[in-house]
Amino acid sequence: MSKVHDCDILVIGSGAAGLSLALRLADLGSIAVLSKGAVTEGSTFYAQGGIAAVLDDEDSVESHVQDTLVAGAGLCDEDAVRFTVENSRDAIEWLIRNGVAFSREPDAIGDHYHLTREGGHSHRRIIHSRDATGRAVATTLAGAVLRQPSVRLFEQYIAVDLITDRSPEDVEARCHGAYALHLESGLVEVFRARYVVLATGGASKVYLYTSNPDVASGDGIAMAWRAGCRVSNLEFNQFHPTCLFHPDARSFLITEAIRGEGGLLKRPDGSRFMPDFDPRAELAPRDIVARAIDHEIKRLGVDCLYLDISHKPADFIREHFPTIYQRCLEFGIDITKEAIPVVPAAHYTCGGVVVDLHSRTDIKGLYAIGEVACTGLHGANRMASNSLLECLVFAQSAAEDIRARWRTDRALPEIPDWDESQVTDADEEVVVHHNWHELRRLMWDYVGIVRTDKRLERALRRIQLLQQEIHDYYANFRVTNDLLELRNLVQVAELMVRCAMDRKESRGLHYTRDYPDLAPVARDTVLSPDGKSEEPGSG
Ligand code: FAD
Ligand code: SIN
Repeated sequence: MSKVHDCDILVIGSGAAGLSLALRLADLGSIAVLSKGAVTEGSTFYAQGGIAAVLDDEDSVESHVQDTLVAGAGLCDEDAVRFTVENSRDAIEWLIRNGVAFSREPDAIGDHYHLTREGGHSHRRIIHSRDATGRAVATTLAGAVLRQPSVRLFEQYIAVDLITDRSPEDVEARCHGAYALHLESGLVEVFRARYVVLATGGASKVYLYTSNPDVASGDGIAMAWRAGCRVSNLEFNQFHPTCLFHPDARSFLITEAIRGEGGLLKRPDGSRFMPDFDPRAELAPRDIVARAIDHEIKRLGVDCLYLDISHKPADFIREHFPTIYQRCLEFGIDITKEAIPVVPAAHYTCGGVVVDLHSRTDIKGLYAIGEVACTGLHGANRMASNSLLECLVFAQSAAEDIRARWRTDRALPEIPDWDESQVTDADEEVVVHHNWHELRRLMWDYVGIVRTDKRLERALRRIQLLQQEIHDYYANFRVTNDLLELRNLVQVAELMVRCAMDRKESRGLHYTRDYPDLAPVARDTVLSPDGKSEEPGSG
């Protein structure tokens, strides 16, 4: 018999999105929060630059909206952009009330919050906690959530699949919970809930080189797809232009705020190149900077390019970027004296599970918030520091929707036990490890910063072979963390390639040599598990 846990709200994921939602609804009912690893292990913890919000009197909602629309290359949903930006100040004030210590700087009358700048923003509007904003947000929210008696945290639990009452002819399917593998016991347990919230983050782990932690394996996107939800715009994978290039650095991020504070991108001979690509130079949106770096690396036949802030005073650098200063020093690079070797790496999944402005998915009782969701905010390219903002604003919108629909009189249905009668322990773990590597390598080589039809076709053929092999493995052997992640990654990889093949133009982050121009009409790529092509956005 599987162990069964009952709760009112099941939150899958403990990043900025999941923890904010749990905190906002802690007065309402019992909440279970699942986390694959330790509570703070997720992209949120590693966020550096900060959170975009309209906080300065000289700035305006309209300006933030327009910058986001421009970065999104004609594909943002303007309602989602306005909704997010209009709620940005409230979201930051809520974080401050909950104890997040953002950086301050002295002024004539005392001090004020320091706002930095990043690519695509026409104002200083990034509030931050030095260069470790994510750590401040994650630890503060985790501390606050753990103090709530109504919230129970389940660390080392990986959700395997959602539980719905969906049948092929059922259009009114409802989500009732999830199966989750307890990584310590190796047993699959049942979580039954009245409302389920996916807050599982992105899928950048599908690429060989990524700024993301290991948990970013697209589980939520794959689970929602298998449960019957539409997904959208998965061809738009954001590559961060500047990750540290060092064999032992595992794609450590070098924040865009370094460029915001005057850092310059240089070739190995010390010359600048960004002005040749865009009038905004180092502060052009990310897609443009990443493509320029990729172009120069390939043209010059070099391993990396350089980001140089050493012309700024050493005290300024150490004060604003203490984490990066320290980390680079560990690799023998003193950023106050020399340039940082950098390369692009997969960073952010702009597409995801289709949701409406209330964070509702296609399945009743199932919400998706944070990087797992496609709200329409980012369009074809996310502007820097809009992501944490989206986590906060859409966690709030989901919380309000759940509160408005709150019912506890509906009995939780009986859920079938997890069936292990047909499986055994794996005989050859090497299959999983090999396929993990092969998948991530082929995505990097064929579905990277520059694409072609041929590369995408090659990728899809290989992915389909891997899918077959992984499916057989899943059907025959007991589940493990690596197998579950691989199953999800290969699913998301297939969806990414199918989205990329559907887009016969170059827009934002999707650049293909076969269709280098923009199509006259911007449209979302929407995939539906039942194969029907539907209009996006209805939630
Ligand atoms: P995450 O914070 O990634 O959390 C996902 C959670 O889901 C984790 O707890 C994980 O364990 C859990 N999970 C996943 N799958 C399962 C499963 N199957 N079962 C159970 N639990 C599961 N954005 C900004 O706006 N500003 C920045 O400065 C910034 N800097 C960044 C720097 C780095 C290095 C990185 C990687 C990203 C950065 N981003 C930044 C992006 C931003 O951090 C993320 O988009 C955001 O934190 C995502 O939050 P989330 O809550 O959706 O997911
Ligand atoms: C960074 O600090 O450069 C990352 C910001 C982001 O991804 O929004």
